[in-house]
Amino acid sequence: MEQLVQLAKIAFASEFSFYLKAHQFHWNIEGPDFYQYHELFGEIYEEVFESIDPFAEQIRAMGSYMPGSYTRFSMLTRIDDEEQILSKDQMVTELIQDNEKMVVIFKKLFEASEANNEYGFSDFVAARLDAHRKHGWMLRASMKR
Ligand SMILES: [Fe+2]
Repeated sequence: MEQLVQLAKIAFASEFSFYLKAHQFHWNIEGPDFYQYHELFGEIYEEVFESIDPFAEQIRAMGSYMPGSYTRFSMLTRIDDEEQILSKDQMVTELIQDNEKMVVIFKKLFEASEANNEYGFSDFVAARLDAHRKHGWMLRASMKR
């Protein structure tokens, strides 16, 4: 259970970082496809942000307090910060890579949840996997030439 909670906090902080990066890209995208990518990044950050509060409440229900500071998030997250302003192609490529990291993190978390008989939490994690699979599809499809 201890290990499950720790993995859940890593996934939570990573999800928060992923959300923030998608939002940063939504703000800073430029180019002839501005509107299309502004909307795509917008759809992604909004979906991920909406999962943040229920995710925290799932972890609280398992009896743990929640990290809520950038210092703690930076210690827990597996998604690197992006401090540069990237080109559209770089943004999409980086978000595809980060999205794949999120899929790996959530698969591991799902297995830990099942091993601890936390089936309700497994359902939540499975829904995050579905959401990230869809984000990956949209990002990859948008890059196809
Ligand atoms: Fe906006």
